[in-house]
Amino acid sequence: MSKVRTVFYCSNCGAQAAKWIGKCPSCNEWNTYVEEVVEREKSTTPWKKKEKHEAAKPKTIQDIKPIPDERIITPDNELNRVLGGGIVPGSVILVGGEPGIGKSTLLLQLALKMEGVKVLYLSGEESDHQIRMRAERIGTKNKECYILPETSTALIFRHIQELQPEVVIVDSIQTMQTELVESTAGSISQIRESASEFQRYAKESGVPVFLIGHITKEGIIAGPKILEHMVDTVLQFEGDRHYSYRILRTVKNRFGSTSELGIYEMQGSGLSEVSNPSEILLTQRDEMLSGIAIAATMEGMRPLLVETQALVTQAVYGTPQRTTTGFDLQRMRMLLAVLEKRCGFFFGVKDVFLNIAGGIRVEDPAIDLAVVASILSSYEDKSLAPNICFCGEVGLSGEIRAVNRIEQRISESAKLGFKKIFVSGYNKKGLNSHKLGIEVVLVNKVEDLIRRIL
Ligand code: TYD
Ligand code: MG
Repeated sequence: MSKVRTVFYCSNCGAQAAKWIGKCPSCNEWNTYVEEVVEREKSTTPWKKKEKHEAAKPKTIQDIKPIPDERIITPDNELNRVLGGGIVPGSVILVGGEPGIGKSTLLLQLALKMEGVKVLYLSGEESDHQIRMRAERIGTKNKECYILPETSTALIFRHIQELQPEVVIVDSIQTMQTELVESTAGSISQIRESASEFQRYAKESGVPVFLIGHITKEGIIAGPKILEHMVDTVLQFEGDRHYSYRILRTVKNRFGSTSELGIYEMQGSGLSEVSNPSEILLTQRDEMLSGIAIAATMEGMRPLLVETQALVTQAVYGTPQRTTTGFDLQRMRMLLAVLEKRCGFFFGVKDVFLNIAGGIRVEDPAIDLAVVASILSSYEDKSLAPNICFCGEVGLSGEIRAVNRIEQRISESAKLGFKKIFVSGYNKKGLNSHKLGIEVVLVNKVEDLIRRIL
């Protein structure tokens, strides 16, 4: 008879210990250890009949046969893009995101649209009737999309063995339960053990597996963080629930770049791909208001024009407020300090609010210049000209630094009808100005910018 064994896990990073610890030695968080009952039997591979185990031998790199890169190209171009050009056979892809953001919709839609590919969609959260209703909204093209509302991995692998699917989708990994571990579904040991079963299955059978994982609002990542190192690709699905735009971001990818981004719009009939995001993210208006500036940013390989909105008002409470949405708060504080120290503005008695329109989050440092321009515009209560845009990183001494892919940014701005773009003087070398169809203004310091726009 097997012995009941308990193990303590850190609920933040998944570290394991034999006894309870107050402070996690691996992630330094306090009070995160939880006890879980783990009863281990001999590890089995339930989707396969017993085979003789072939031990791996060391080989020289030349002896390893290359396998051709045969990716499965999905009908979803945005998904292909973030995966680095389609699904790699045998890969495990974790799709994380807050509840209600649209993870189930995204993957059910994928299953329903992959014509002629046998897809098994495992749902531990919804009944088959609910999924049917959802499928009706999305529309079905794939006649070989199988739905299985089941949470026990032992039963699931029995079905998988019978069905032999070509793609498996697990919705969600937090609801899966393996018999090898005794704790309840959703606990760290369960998540880890069931994920590793799916991972072994993917590696041995060559079938790609999508795992959906929930992330809670507070950023407590029950599961996904622990799984990050086990899977090949981590995609994060994000967006503001009050807006219809959703962004699929690559966080980790063993088979492609991590700077890719897919943009979708949630509609009544599921998620639709957005192929011209800049046009949607810019609000159409006849007159410019103060505090608004347009930034020419890059998201992955794609240029994206976004609107930054700032509001600078007299502080009513003792401590002035600083709030941002879609932009790093610390970075805004730094930019305010630069404006104070180098240009003589005084924000000590001002509340500053900053918002990136459309509910998206921008990490490209080239947005700095537009952030500075919008803050100054609101500070002075003067609107900027409607057909200008900005791109440049601001350094601590107030210098405007060069950014990458400047030509692409400029040509996207020209394409969208902007007449003037402010870029760093250090970008001059890479520019071939007469072909651009837009006036390029070179600025080296924040002071230069202020003189030109206000
Ligand atoms: P869902 O995929 O269930 O989110 P998750 O699996 O990440 O928890 O998506 C839920 C939201 O999407 C829900 O609020 C309804 C909305 N939705 C649409 O707007 N249109 C649709 O066609 C579908 C299927 C859902
Ligand atoms: Mg769901």
